[in-house]
Amino acid sequence: ARRMIEKGRALHKRTAELFLQCLREDPQGRQGREYLHKRGVSDQVAVAFGLGFAPLQWEFLTKQLVQEGYSPEELERFGLVVRRAGGEGYYDRFRNRLIFPIFDNQGRPIAFGGRVLGDEMPKYLNSPETPLYKKGQQLYGLHVAGPSIREKGLAILVEGYMDVIACHQHGITQAVATLGTALTAEQGRLLLRYSSSILILYDGDRAGIAATEKAGLILTSMGARVQVLQLQDGMDPDDFLQSQGAEQLWKVIDKAPSYFEYRYEQVRQRHGPTSIQSKVASIRELAPDLLAIPSAVEQEATVQWLARQVGLSESSIVEELRSLSQGGP
Ligand code: CTP
Ligand code: MN
Ligand code: MN
Ligand code: MN
Ligand code: MN
Repeated sequence: ARRMIEKGRALHKRTAELFLQCLREDPQGRQGREYLHKRGVSDQVAVAFGLGFAPLQWEFLTKQLVQEGYSPEELERFGLVVRRAGGEGYYDRFRNRLIFPIFDNQGRPIAFGGRVLGDEMPKYLNSPETPLYKKGQQLYGLHVAGPSIREKGLAILVEGYMDVIACHQHGITQAVATLGTALTAEQGRLLLRYSSSILILYDGDRAGIAATEKAGLILTSMGARVQVLQLQDGMDPDDFLQSQGAEQLWKVIDKAPSYFEYRYEQVRQRHGPTSIQSKVASIRELAPDLLAIPSAVEQEATVQWLARQVGLSESSIVEELRSLSQGGP
C-alpha cells in the first residue's frame, strides 16, 4: 500500500507538470492564459498555485504517462483517466479545462480540479476520492496560505478555487477554500492548527448562507473565534474583489460580526424581537449555537449578551438551554 501511495504522489507531481507545461507552452494553453488574464490572475499567482491546462485531447495523459511507465490501472485508481464504457481502453478525465492542482498542506499535489473556459456544464470537474485524496480532509490553498494565516493570526474561509486565488491576487494571502462543500470537522481541526481566529466568507447566496451556519457551528464547537462576513446580492469574494477591490473588502471585514452576533441578527430579522412567541422562538433557534460554545466563561458571556438583546434574564435562558439540551421542547 505504501508503494502504491508513493507511486500516486509521483504520478500527481508529473501530471501537474504536464498540465503546467501545456498552459505555459502549448498552443492550446493559450486559451487558458487568456482566460486567466481576463479574470485578473497574474502569471506570478498562477505559478504560485501551479495552475495548468488540460488540452482538448482524449488521451493526452493516458498516452504520455503510460509511455513513462505508469499502468492504465494506476491512472484510473487516482482518477486521472476513466475506463471506456463497454469497451477497451481509457480516456482522460480532464480535457479542455483550466487545471487547479489541489495540494496537501505540505505542498504536494494530490488531486485536480478543472474548470471549463466557457459556460458549459459541469463548470468544475474534480478528482474523485482516491487513496491520496479525501476531500473532507483538505483545504484548498493551505500550502500557500498557511504561513500567512499563522503570521496574521487569522484564516479566511472561502468556497472556491477562484476565491482563494483572487484573494491572493489582491494581497489577502490567508484565504483557504472548502471547495464547495460544507466544512467538515476534520477540515476545522486542520485549520485550527494554523489559527484560532477564522473569518467565514462564503458566497452571499442561499447555499453559501446555509454552509456558513454549518461551518460556524462546527468551528464554534471547536473553540475557535469565528466571525462571519456575508456578501450582498449573491456575490462571492472574487466578484467583490473584482468590483470593489481589497481595500473595501478589508473595511467590511473589520466590521464583520462574530458568528453568534451574525446568527442573532439572522434570527432577529426572521422573528422580530418583540412578541413573546418570537423571543421564545429566537432563543430556541439559537440554543445549538450557545450549547456549542465549549468554554463555560464564553458561553456565559454570550448568554449575558443575548439576555440583554432580547430583554430576558440570563437565568431563564440558562434554564431553557438546560431543558433543551436534555431533549426538552
Ligand atoms: N464546485 C464544484 N463543482 C461544481 C460547482 C462548484 O466542484 N460543478 C466547487 C468548486 O470548488 C467551486 C466551488 O464549489 O470553486 C464554489 O462553487 P461556485 O460558487 O458555484 O463557483 P465559483 O468558485 O464561484 O466559480 P467561478 O468563479 O469560477 O465561476
Ligand atoms: Mn457558491
Ligand atoms: Mn462562487
Ligand atoms: Mn466565483
Ligand atoms: Mn483588482
